[in-house]
Amino acid sequence: MTTSCPLVVFGSVNVDIVCAVDHLPKPGETIHTPGTTTGLGGKGANQAASIARLGAPVVLAGRTGADPFGAIARDRLASFGVDLSHLATDPDRATGVAMINVDLAGQNTITVAGGANLAVRPEDADAVAGLLRRTPVALFQLEIPIAATLAAAGIARTGGAVVILDPAPAPKGGLDDSVFRAVDIMTPNETETMALVGILPHSREDAAAAAERFLSRGLASVVVKLGANGVYFRGPAGDGYVEPFPVTTIDSVAAGDCFNGGLAVALSRGDDLPSAVRFAAACGALATTRRGASDAAPSLAEVGALLSRPNRQ
Ligand code: RIB
Repeated sequence: MTTSCPLVVFGSVNVDIVCAVDHLPKPGETIHTPGTTTGLGGKGANQAASIARLGAPVVLAGRTGADPFGAIARDRLASFGVDLSHLATDPDRATGVAMINVDLAGQNTITVAGGANLAVRPEDADAVAGLLRRTPVALFQLEIPIAATLAAAGIARTGGAVVILDPAPAPKGGLDDSVFRAVDIMTPNETETMALVGILPHSREDAAAAAERFLSRGLASVVVKLGANGVYFRGPAGDGYVEPFPVTTIDSVAAGDCFNGGLAVALSRGDDLPSAVRFAAACGALATTRRGASDAAPSLAEVGALLSRPNRQ
């Protein structure tokens, strides 16, 4: 790893309460779970944990509450080696909580109570401005207020960082063009692509059509995560596609977050977009083979082993 300045993740921290279910509940339906598990989640925390698990230095900026869930989240983040010196404690709000159902096919539904994440303000970006200006890559998601995200992204760009935004969860009303222009790379999944540009992609061709729309909004590069159908990307140097890796999915929670963590690590060490996307796709694929959110993040050795095998078998 050649990165000396840490990568910066500016975003959310949750505690996840996960129910294993045989199917996702329909409206009006009550179902049983054998029990719940509690773990570290939040898209920002998961991205930071996945970067640390890959061996890169990372700072997580955001907010937790001054409550027992905040202590759980901090302990777990610290055990990954994430730098928490810019993770504030909000005296007035509870730590974010996510209620998650995971079915037998590994699909999920997630309901988030944002809590302290929703109190992150643009001024919080000023507190971490020195690092944002020096970092090679800054990572963002949409579980904190967009004004704070844009403030931090703007500072990171003045220093020359690559700014990655995972537009998750995608707002119902979509995003303003100014957001597309404020970042370098967006990494939507299928539903986020539908919400943002009106195409639900299932294939490379669908994703290419969606990418055209993303770029027409002012975005420089887009990486469309197609789940079991691989990854399509398009940037200034052209487009490409990564075939899905042959893994057995048991839980897709945080696969996208681990994908983004891998993308950030690969770009920070100088990979070009095609090889960074392939590395990221391997990280995301491995995350689906384990239960949990941050706990599913793969190590560099595990990613290397998967990359040494052909994508399709
Ligand atoms: O992307 C997965 C994450 O979304 C979960 O960890 C949950 O906390 C929600 O933020």
